[in-house]
This record gives sequence, structure tokens and C-alpha cells, in this order.
Amino acid sequence: MIILDGKATADKIKIEIAAKVDEILLKGGKRPHLAAILVGEDGASQTYVGHKEKACAQVGFTSTILRFSDTITEDFLINEIAAINANPDIDGLIVQLPLPKHINEQRVIETIDPKKDVDGFHPENVGRMVLGLPSFVSATPWGIMELLKRYSIETSGKNCVVIGRSNIVGRPMANLLSQKSKPGDCTVTICHSRTKDIKEHTLNADIIIAALGIPEFLTGDMVKDGAVIIDVGITRVKADNKSGFRLVGDVLFREVSPKCSYITPVPGGVGPMTIISLLNNTLKAAGY
Ligand code: GUN
Repeated sequence: MIILDGKATADKIKIEIAAKVDEILLKGGKRPHLAAILVGEDGASQTYVGHKEKACAQVGFTSTILRFSDTITEDFLINEIAAINANPDIDGLIVQLPLPKHINEQRVIETIDPKKDVDGFHPENVGRMVLGLPSFVSATPWGIMELLKRYSIETSGKNCVVIGRSNIVGRPMANLLSQKSKPGDCTVTICHSRTKDIKEHTLNADIIIAALGIPEFLTGDMVKDGAVIIDVGITRVKADNKSGFRLVGDVLFREVSPKCSYITPVPGGVGPMTIISLLNNTLKAAGY
């Protein structure tokens, strides 16, 4: 069993991106600039945005974090996004989700200029991705594709089961893995909460992407020997430690890891790769 070390891979790619930034500056170009909007006080969102800000600094990007109270109106937020769309100094924009309930997330996403949409959430980017055209791909699917690529995992002709059908992970993941590409060329099945017998599908899978958000859902009896396991889950579960919680994936690692050929740990697997996606997309949005 080989651990797919997302942390080490992400660190390596950060060094590559930092070298690229040095090259851009040497040639007289400007530092790529990412803006992030954070609305409200959600603890997890603050942590995620903090990680993104730190990653930008590590590779030499400029970052701007706009923090707003959760009492702002939808129209105020839309106007802020319009101002960033029109600001030539800012290359990429993300609006950290979730937003407060009174704000329509879809309207907000659709306000972001698709050329600055480094989260890849705008329908124009989703549509282009589905058609196999150049686009910004959302962070988790991109991170998983990059891990598969960098570990030279053969995907062509493999049976792949994606558990979860979310717009930002399950469905784009299934789409990318089914495309005529490398990695890709998989025979993909999407399982979800209405699937009759998930185990019947997973037992036939060469590659399993667990992205349903139920801690330790995928158990040893659901996995065939030699399968590749990608664990997207990252749930905070109460624990008797300093932080008061621990992070748990969708895979029961202790049972599944002895059976598989490759597996991503939680934490340190898919998570660190998602931030790299954002850096990679920001570089692209800046024209590099
Ligand atoms: N909330 C959880 N994941 C994400 C993400 O990838 N991007 C944004 N903007 N918000 C999120």
C-alpha cells in the first residue's frame, strides 16, 4: 500500500509555482494577485481563507482578503464583486462558501467574471470543463487529477466509482475521469444517497473516490484488493484534545488501507492539493 502524500506533493508544486513567479518578475511581469471575500465569522471558513492567504505568500502571490459582517446585503456583495471584476490589478477572485442564508449563492457565483473565477464555480467554467475545453476546474477535482498524474496511476479502462454527486466534487470528478484524457478514460459510476446497494458497486471498483461527507463510511468489506482509494471527506469530529476536534475522512482508514494499492490519508491527502489548484488557477488567470 502506497500513501498518496498530498502534503509533500503540494509542497513540491508550491516550489515550482514560486520559481515561476520569480521568472515572471525577472521578465518585468507583475505578481499574480488573488482576492478572497469572507462573509461572517464561520470558524472553518476563516481557517480555510487563512490557509489560502498563507499559500499565496509562500509562492510570492499578492493576496487581498475582504472581510465583511454577515449582516451585509446581497446587493452590497454583488457590488463588491463587480468592483473586483473591473479592477485590472486583481487576477483571481474567490468568495468563500457557505454564505449567510439571506444571500443567494448562485447569483453571487454568477456575478464573478468567469476569467477571474479561480474556484471554477461559474456555469461558464463548469460548461467548458464538461466539454473538455480550457477552463478553470474546481479545486478538489483538479487536486485529485494532479495526484493521480504525479503518482503515475493508470486510470485508462479502469472502473471508477465516485460516491457523492455534489456540484463541486462528485459530478466534476466523474466527468473528468470519464474524459478522453490522461488521467481519464475511466468507466465511471456515480453513487449517491438513493443508490440501492453502494457496496455492490464499490466491490467492482478499481478506483474509489469517496466524497459524500459521512465519516468512515467506506469500510474494508466494501473494497476489493488492490483498489486505489481517494478520500475527499474532512469532517470535524469532537475529540478530547487541545483543539477539541479531529479531522475524519469518509474512509475507515484502518480497515481499508491494508487492502488497497494507493490511498490518500486525512489529513494530508486531498486537502493540501486543493489549495494548489487555487494557486495554479490564479497563475493561469494572470496569463501564465
Ligand atoms: N467552501 C468549501 N470549499 C470551498 C471552495 O473550494 N471554495 C470556496 N470559495 N468556498 C468553499
